[in-house]
Amino acid sequence: MLQDIPTPTLREASPCVLETERLSLRKPTLADVKAIARLANDRRIAENTRRLPYPYLQDHAVEFVRATAAAARETVFLIENNHTPLGMVGISWLDPDAPELGYWLGVDHWGQGFGTEAARAVIDYYFEEYSQDLLFSGARVANPSSRNILEKCGFQWSGVELHRFEALGCSTPVDCFRLSRGVWSSLKNWSSSTRRDG
Ligand SMILES: CC(C)(COP(=O)(O)OP(=O)(O)OC[C@H]1O[C@@H](n2cnc3c(N)ncnc32)[C@H](O)[C@@H]1OP(=O)(O)O)[C@@H](O)C(=O)NCCC(=O)NCCS
Repeated sequence: MLQDIPTPTLREASPCVLETERLSLRKPTLADVKAIARLANDRRIAENTRRLPYPYLQDHAVEFVRATAAAARETVFLIENNHTPLGMVGISWLDPDAPELGYWLGVDHWGQGFGTEAARAVIDYYFEEYSQDLLFSGARVANPSSRNILEKCGFQWSGVELHRFEALGCSTPVDCFRLSRGVWSSLKNWSSSTRRDG
């Protein structure tokens, strides 16, 4: 007897890939765990992200990839440049009413604008794919480069909160930011306007 096999949705059949000028963002798989663990296993990353442990072992990467695969929404991406993994970017729905943008890059890849480029791609995807009006994020007060990324993407500062950081084993002040659909959409329009003289 023929089994009633559900037709896969388009998204299940072809996982979402986001392309930017230099980057390709795709869903991480178990084949990526070595690269993820190698990139993430650095105290400078763990101390600036709330949930990344240090040391970051391959088992942590396996657990992370499995959780990502099981998640209801596809909003976590491996960042690659020329097929070389650089880091991760994504939106966490731990609080479904306050989806939160997060990202990290392997230290060798800092300072080349990759963080901003990856964040912008995921922000566009979020507002295009979901109906939410707000996106949240935060950066440790002692993390000016992350704060800079958020401000360049249009996020507005909303206050300081204390948050626990796994690798620090304690709470530390975090600058909280939010980006509204209206600001995002204005910035998109501004960046697409061009001037022709003569
Ligand atoms: C945050 C992180 C992703 C930044 O990535 P990146 O690719 O180096 O960032 P970008 O180059 O796109 O942008 C960083 C901006 O901060 C600026 N910046 C860097 N260090 C700075 C400092 N000490 N003070 C002020 N600005 C600084 C850079 O000049 C750049 O701005 P510009 O493009 O206007 O020159 C990376 O440092 C990282 O992974 N850190 C650890 C994890 C982390 O902090 N994640 C974010 C959690 S909220």
